[in-house]
Amino acid sequence: MFSTLLFIFGALITFVISQECVPYSSPYDFSSGYPTIWETPTSDDFNTDEFQQVYNSIDWSQVPDIEPHQVVNGGLDRSNYPDSDPDCWWTYEQCSAPKAPGLQPDITICPEPETWGLTYDDGPNCTHNAFYDFLSENNQKATMFFIGSNVADWPNEAQRALTDGHQICVHTWSHPYMTSLSNEGVLAELYYARKAIKYVCGVTPLCWRPPYGDVDDRVRAIAQQLNLATIIWNLDTNDWDMEPVGSETPDQIDANFQSFVNMGQNGTFANSGCIVLEHEINNGTMSKAIEWYPKIKSAYQYVVPIATCMNITQPYAETNYTYPSFSEYTGTD
Ligand SMILES: *[C@@H]1O[C@H](CO)[C@@H](O)[C@H](O)[C@H]1NC(C)=O
Ligand SMILES: *[C@@H]1O[C@H](CO)[C@@H](O)[C@H](O)[C@H]1NC(C)=O
Ligand SMILES: *[C@@H]1O[C@H](CO)[C@@H](O)[C@H](O)[C@H]1NC(C)=O
Ligand SMILES: *[C@@H]1O[C@H](CO)[C@@H](O)[C@H](O)[C@H]1NC(C)=O
Ligand SMILES: *[C@@H]1O[C@H](CO)[C@@H](O)[C@H](O)[C@H]1NC(C)=O
Repeated sequence: MFSTLLFIFGALITFVISQECVPYSSPYDFSSGYPTIWETPTSDDFNTDEFQQVYNSIDWSQVPDIEPHQVVNGGLDRSNYPDSDPDCWWTYEQCSAPKAPGLQPDITICPEPETWGLTYDDGPNCTHNAFYDFLSENNQKATMFFIGSNVADWPNEAQRALTDGHQICVHTWSHPYMTSLSNEGVLAELYYARKAIKYVCGVTPLCWRPPYGDVDDRVRAIAQQLNLATIIWNLDTNDWDMEPVGSETPDQIDANFQSFVNMGQNGTFANSGCIVLEHEINNGTMSKAIEWYPKIKSAYQYVVPIATCMNITQPYAETNYTYPSFSEYTGTD
């Protein structure tokens, strides 16, 4: 009887732990000190003492006075935006060299020739274990752009990224169009995502990627004051738009990967490499990443995370985390 009970208990525990995407309890409490999970921060979040302090720590005279864009039918309204692109709005014409003074350019390429900058957005996803196992088996590190709300929901999965040696960057709290938000909204999206990563993983990222690439000089200026470098991409697999979540067939996504593999073989990146947009949204996107990895590895000389491309050996504000330089990672010392 006792052993039967033990057996049932054991089975239950194994079931709970091995069943992906079943919420679990953790020591991390997000019920206060954070916006509501998966909601864009509101005035309730802006009116706290903590946020006011963060807000007052920003030198707003360095932040260009740019009106937020409107979101219409789920997309950004570009209709009244001047052709001269005064705000270096990436969404308009992929501008990445800021026009306002004092701003760092976005990182859009890996400077190393024949090199594939490996990045995955929107994690941590509760189904990512097989994918992270695959990366580990291949001794492959990547840059992970984590959504704060996902870190709050899946803290063990977030910690795994750090343990596995991946580079963690901020991908906002709730994945909005950043240029559509007020200054407070932009600041809160960045600040609380970074805080969640620090709380759960113990590190303070120094990089972020705007959801949809949607950044302009106002948003850049706020990110820069939080010591977050803006990282975009120059190749988009469009895996985010794959069925069933999106509208493209797996064949269309394969065609994109194939053309990027061709580029690795035909000299497109002879002088400098690429940063590729991929996602850990679901089994489909992660399976595509696994399927194409061997072909990418053989088409490109190196496949590395962004910190490695840039020789950033201390990718967090905490100085006791050291990552390999490009030559260390690739063994080309
Ligand atoms: C995708 O799902 C299949 C079937 O459940 C599983 O075998 C595979 O490991 C999953 N792939 C990833 C990357 O999670
Ligand atoms: C390299 O391959 C890409 C993708 O197939 C193609 O668009 C590009 O024109 C090719 N470049 C050269 C120099 O052949
Ligand atoms: C994580 O993966 C699950 C299963 O594929 C999916 O339903 C969910 O939308 C993903 N979560 C996020 C936040 O993208
Ligand atoms: C990284 O370091 C290597 C070796 O010192 C150097 O050749 C390369 O130019 C550096 N790359 C960047 C982006 O600083
Ligand atoms: C870095 O220091 C922090 C705080 O002392 C500690 O919790 C963490 O384990 C250290 N990490 C490494 C990789 O040394």
